Amino acid sequence: MTTITVNAEKKQHEISPLLYGIFFEDINYAGDGGLYAELVANRSFSYYGHKHIGEAEDRAEYHRMCWELVGEAEFTVATERPLNEVHTHYARVSGKQGTGIRNCGFCNEGFAVKEGAEYRFTCYVRAKKLCELNVCITEAQPERKSTIGERSITIKSNLECHKEVVCGALETDWQKIELTIQAQATCKHAYLELLLAEEGEVELAYVSLFPADTYKGRRNGMRRDLAELLKKMQPKFMRFPGGCIVEGRSFENMYRWKETLGEVTERRTNWNRWQLEEYQPEGRHSADYYQSYGLGYYEYFLLCEDLGATPLPVMNVGMTCQWHEALLVDLTELTPYIQDILDLIEFANGTPDTVWGAKRAAMGHPEPFGLEYIGIGNEQWGKEYFERYEVFQKEITERYPEIKLITCAGWTAEGKDFDTAQEWMKAHRKEAYAVDEHFYKSPEWFLANLHRYDNYDRTLPKVFAGEYAAHTAGEVAERRNNWYAALCEAAFLIGVERNSDHVVMACYAPLFARAGHQQWQPDLIWFDNDRAYGTPSYYVQQLFATHQGDWQVESICDDAELQVCVAVKEAMATDGQSAGNECEATASCEKRLIIKIVNLSAEEKEICIRTEQMPSDNVGAEIYELYADLDAENSFEQPDRVKPIKRVLERFDGRYTIQGNSVTIFEIG
Ligand code: AHR
Repeated sequence: MTTITVNAEKKQHEISPLLYGIFFEDINYAGDGGLYAELVANRSFSYYGHKHIGEAEDRAEYHRMCWELVGEAEFTVATERPLNEVHTHYARVSGKQGTGIRNCGFCNEGFAVKEGAEYRFTCYVRAKKLCELNVCITEAQPERKSTIGERSITIKSNLECHKEVVCGALETDWQKIELTIQAQATCKHAYLELLLAEEGEVELAYVSLFPADTYKGRRNGMRRDLAELLKKMQPKFMRFPGGCIVEGRSFENMYRWKETLGEVTERRTNWNRWQLEEYQPEGRHSADYYQSYGLGYYEYFLLCEDLGATPLPVMNVGMTCQWHEALLVDLTELTPYIQDILDLIEFANGTPDTVWGAKRAAMGHPEPFGLEYIGIGNEQWGKEYFERYEVFQKEITERYPEIKLITCAGWTAEGKDFDTAQEWMKAHRKEAYAVDEHFYKSPEWFLANLHRYDNYDRTLPKVFAGEYAAHTAGEVAERRNNWYAALCEAAFLIGVERNSDHVVMACYAPLFARAGHQQWQPDLIWFDNDRAYGTPSYYVQQLFATHQGDWQVESICDDAELQVCVAVKEAMATDGQSAGNECEATASCEKRLIIKIVNLSAEEKEICIRTEQMPSDNVGAEIYELYADLDAENSFEQPDRVKPIKRVLERFDGRYTIQGNSVTIFEIG
């Protein structure tokens, strides 16, 4: 029998309310082709060749990507009279009745539709002569084509259109069409077809299809099942947009937040750095991986609001990815990059009478988004970084002293570059709120680092564990999302929580992966066109985040195989809402003990929790258990193989048998 003695009166420190969050980056088709609910790939015919994949001889080939011919139509890309200055290419389709083009969806996998569900179609079209276009959702099979939903649209001739204001500004003859199609069948791999109803020619500048049923029903919104998995984690913050995406592989490829605002038709398409061959497992390609920026900064802030998460944007510091080209913006030319951050703060927090606050209000959100934290650079290191950080820090703090800035500790949490960051912090203790540590390490490293933060110097900036995951052995494609990796992460998180006066935020990375098209694994959530499941690591994150206390209290456990942390959570008796410090003064305040135990032994253990503050004869407990064989993984076929089990005990005397290799959380009181 192992005794765990808890002294609930011995408060050690408050637990950071932001401790568990999420990391989002458009890697593994997490954004376009993933969380962002758009079903049409290359909707603006704007994919393009670029120097990293060799200047394309036939640029049209890129602009036609994800689209194919239906019948003997002619399909060219034109540039003479585009929809706007951002998207300079559009499709010209001509042919006989019944011919046209089809969108094959992301990764050439089409998209899923559900019988009875509605899909919102939007496009900009133009024709010299009045004509009809059939908009069809089809299930394309090798032999036979079956139509799942269909509507037809009438396109006015250019001339006619010019006479009418209904076409929008008179100088443009592009006609905006919006309609809804109801699916008559369920299909996992459907295609969108645009077919001429009679012989003729049409031009198409933007073609979009969204499920009406997005998360919270938002237009231009998120895929509901994926966002719901995020919501179930109760993330306290959301890091965005990465990751290496922030830095880019060239100045042209860098993530620039202003390009992600406004009408979706006016947002630039950027090539996704994860499309390059060097990131693909053998035999795969992701040449069709671009960023539409449909999930841009406004959508990000809205999603944070919907999830109840604090935004944590990471911004470029005038450097491209140091793993590759490592291009630098000269120290004398940083002003536009700093201005970008100042403008982002105004966009998020400014009143509608400020320039950027007005843009937010115009997009539909007059209230501020409450931005408090910003990461300056992603995973940067060395002298080049710190001399830039200092310039950014000075100017941002001068203007917005209340914004908490996060500096980088480099690409890994030890070694020469990490030590340089530590040295810099010792000399600049007040110039960063926190430091962003990254560790993609073996499960054994996590076990060897259970006490990593116990002796961190509390006078240095706090720690944001901004990217981490336990990587089992092997090449990228061999690394497993198994219970062993998740168990080691859980043990490590006990150490994080015990030190959460100093480690204030932590997020696993990456968040999502489209199965069969990932550039990186392990990941937290896997999905395909219509399914998604959480990995064992997902359930560790979820359990830790949904059972968080307000402060850490003393606990003593004499078994080294058990990692234990104990917290007190206060709640108002009347409505069950957490009330933090206000609660103490109120008579109706209830206290609960939250005990997290990770058993690293393969043997089950009998434990006895002793606490004077919780008399054993009249308390109940909720117990959450997570355990499995060490090599167990979840999958589309078995999404619940590793999943928490909940038990409710009306009376709890403190004795329990915990499983071998397990995570057990007790909520007592
Ligand atoms: O999470 C995947 C990548 O790992 C991130 O883009 C980068 O910051 C890190 O190297």
